[in-house]
Amino acid sequence: MFNVQVDGVWRQFPKGTRVIEACEQAGSYVPRYCYHKKLSSPGNCRMCLIEMGLPKLGPDRKPELGADGKPVINWMPRPQISCAQDVAEGMGVRTNSPLVKECQRGVMEFLLINHPLDCPICDQAGECRLQEFSVEYGTSESRFLENKVKKPKNVELGPRVTLDDERCILCSRCIRFCQEIAKDDVLGFVDRGSNTVLTAHPGKRLENNYSLNTVDICPVGALTSSDFRFKMRVWFLKETKSICTSCATGCNTVIATREDMIYRQTPRENDAVNSCWMCDYGRLNFDYLQSERRLLEPRIFLGNKFAAVDWPTAIAHAALQLKPFSGWEIAVVASGRMTNEELWLMAQLARALDVQLIDIVARTGPGDDILLSTDRNPNTNGARLLGITSEPGAKLPVIAEAVKSGRVKALMALGENPIDTGISVEQLSNLRAFIVMDILANTATEHATVVLPSLGFAEKRGSTINGKGRLQRLNRAVRGPGNARDDWEILRDLLQALTGSNGIYSIEDVFRQMSEAVPQFAGLTLSKIGDLGVQVMQARESPSPPVDPAVSDIEKAEAKKTSGRSR
Ligand code: SF4
Ligand code: FES
Repeated sequence: MFNVQVDGVWRQFPKGTRVIEACEQAGSYVPRYCYHKKLSSPGNCRMCLIEMGLPKLGPDRKPELGADGKPVINWMPRPQISCAQDVAEGMGVRTNSPLVKECQRGVMEFLLINHPLDCPICDQAGECRLQEFSVEYGTSESRFLENKVKKPKNVELGPRVTLDDERCILCSRCIRFCQEIAKDDVLGFVDRGSNTVLTAHPGKRLENNYSLNTVDICPVGALTSSDFRFKMRVWFLKETKSICTSCATGCNTVIATREDMIYRQTPRENDAVNSCWMCDYGRLNFDYLQSERRLLEPRIFLGNKFAAVDWPTAIAHAALQLKPFSGWEIAVVASGRMTNEELWLMAQLARALDVQLIDIVARTGPGDDILLSTDRNPNTNGARLLGITSEPGAKLPVIAEAVKSGRVKALMALGENPIDTGISVEQLSNLRAFIVMDILANTATEHATVVLPSLGFAEKRGSTINGKGRLQRLNRAVRGPGNARDDWEILRDLLQALTGSNGIYSIEDVFRQMSEAVPQFAGLTLSKIGDLGVQVMQARESPSPPVDPAVSDIEKAEAKKTSGRSR
């Protein structure tokens, strides 16, 4: 630990702490533009100037001590930037002296000289560092009478990012992000002095899968999201902390909404998961929640046509259709997108019906070594831990074969389209019961005997376990449309209709049941998971054997039936 004097008070900071961070920890925030704690520090905006001093050395080369026993500080004659230096023993820092304030006013004046005064039409207004610091550290008047330099506006840097060069303050955060994090050296400055502009290198476009992070870290309105710009003023947005469910990484997010519409998702810092970033694919993957294909009413197929019914009727009808069958006559195609709570209730349902054939659909896609995982299911680990599957998707061919042969008479599709698993439309039509719980209509829905409309990731609460074994929490940001219902409630009601009362009244009750049975969840509650999650499995730990004895039996029975098949 180093002793450092910040604004007259001696404090201790660990070796390696940046001066700008030390000041912030001491409660003296130093304004900054180019500095970002996850990127290198070029020190080019000069907004973080402070007064700095080092211990005065006596003739014996040892620090001179003052009357208070603390080192006497030799203040440097000129202000120094605080973002490019680490603390040192006996260092002194002044963040609010008249010289520092004069520097801040001067830098703000230079930055604003050529900056357009277009806050009323700028998409960054409300979350713009230039706007904020101009109020806090600048002056309210401009002395600049000359014409501002004209630069390119409305430049499409790539498919998702639009640039206004006149607003750019040349901090280079976006350039460094592309070089250091996205590993796609695509942006740079050209021309000199006040004519310097940001641009993509000749023949290149900002189109990597992390391009929208440049919009997040651009401190001004120079880089804007082509998807979000001009859609909503940021001060009207309600922010909900949640997680991305587009792959097994589970990046922490903030979902910004207004009146039950999602406008954007941005990354939320969690060093154990996604640092400060998220990929564009996950960030923009929410439009389907507002799709016209959303299932809005529970429906049952009666007398050759579908009828919209209320929930008690739909649940009772589904239970009635499932009751005559058990064991190998029923199959469940579940989803790695289901939360732990939903998977847990589904396991109970499987036990009640003695279901032998149950699996999740494995969903994969190209990954990278930044954040995007090849496993596109957010909760494969949850499905493993809860004993739903040991090798995702391995049983699906068996299920398809059993449906084809007519051995399976009742099929439940939970959040997945069984046609994608090799079951034909004709085979679905031959089933005596085909219960679908999903959010969107698909090619299979019209062949269902019961359709149970459920909720999407931003419309419900629950937990998932990411690919590195971290238990994380989904939060509700918007209400679901129409009469769609929370998945766990649908499964709870179905379970109740088949087995009688089960004492589950809230999602907390479901988690409590899990925490009593699953050692990895012991002592946890949904609220104890917190905003940053809890590590419950080792990153590459092969999951524990199934905890639900009934599900274990299912696995064993299945192993027996499929002996000789690799599992
Ligand atoms: Fe900085 Fe934004 Fe300009 Fe990039 S576009 S250099 S992030 S001000
Ligand atoms: Fe220190 Fe830009 S934040 S020079």
